Amino acid sequence: MIPSTRLSKKLGLRKLYLKEDFTNPTHSFKDRAASVAVSKALEFRLNAVGCASTGNLAAAVSARASRAGLPCYIFVPKGVEKEKLSHALSYGARLIIVDGTYDEANWMAARFAEEYNVGIVNVNIRPYYVEGSKTLAYEICEQLGWRTPDHIIIPMASGALLNAIDKGLRELKTIGLIEGEVRVSGVQPEGCCPIVSAYKENTEYIKPVREINTIAVSLAIGNPGDGVYALRTIRRTKGVAVAVSDREILEAVKELAQLEGLFVEPGAAVTVAGLKKMIEEGSVDRDEEVVCLLTGSGVKTPSIIQEYTINPITVKPSTIELSKILEVRKTG
Ligand SMILES: Cc1ncc(COP(=O)(O)O)c(C=O)c1O
Repeated sequence: MIPSTRLSKKLGLRKLYLKEDFTNPTHSFKDRAASVAVSKALEFRLNAVGCASTGNLAAAVSARASRAGLPCYIFVPKGVEKEKLSHALSYGARLIIVDGTYDEANWMAARFAEEYNVGIVNVNIRPYYVEGSKTLAYEICEQLGWRTPDHIIIPMASGALLNAIDKGLRELKTIGLIEGEVRVSGVQPEGCCPIVSAYKENTEYIKPVREINTIAVSLAIGNPGDGVYALRTIRRTKGVAVAVSDREILEAVKELAQLEGLFVEPGAAVTVAGLKKMIEEGSVDRDEEVVCLLTGSGVKTPSIIQEYTINPITVKPSTIELSKILEVRKTG
């Protein structure tokens, strides 16, 4: 839990924490989910493991499978960043690129699981996957000295993480380790925001999105499996659901990097972009203690750096060239 200094000042917030969850072994929060699910697959003596992935789960499951000595099958849609695919391949996984959307890749993975007794972590052993994710909520409270923040802001694709956080909080409350209510809010990219649309239309019906277009590739799930439950959680906890544009996401990536020294991927930066929108809309009080989850590393999506960095300069190794360096800083 990193207490924000410069970003919170810019936003005019009393207390903002950035939950750094992108320095896990494969650089996203998915290591939590994959580690519990693959352990369960071993216990159940399944033949192999795998997942349907928008990018981050692929590496997390592949890495755990390699340690467990199990074959691993990863189903991804077209369009996942090549760095994320190479990462998963490095652990020796079998990578299947489905010529279609994430929902179609997920459908293929589910059929494969039924046919071959394979533990697809986010399909037939999904309850254990969720048990792993909820530890993020435990850790937030533990790192605050066993108390709750006022508000947690979470990126949403399938909606599973948001529900897992809520489950973790409810469990801690049941056993008396924490008290108080936490607002749980979710953020999606505008180019794929079926949960946010249902929230805004005040319905429980999640209309699947077919034409997906977003820089936050890891959140590109058109038909979110846990969407209805995420909606209920947001409403029950008096949270909100907001959608943010690609431009707003990139701005948040830049602010996190250049104000806080944290380089995250677009799918993670949505929480900060969403927080800004909530402040504008008046759905976050400046006195609230807010936690933004940062769930994936920018190192896995390096191409986004080109969108906002100042070009490097090339100089000759001579003292005469030194003055050029400061000039660039001034204009840059
Ligand atoms: C970086 C990142 N954050 C958040 C999520 C949201 O996950 P969920 O599908 O549980 O809503 C994902 C999903 O892949 C992700 O990759």
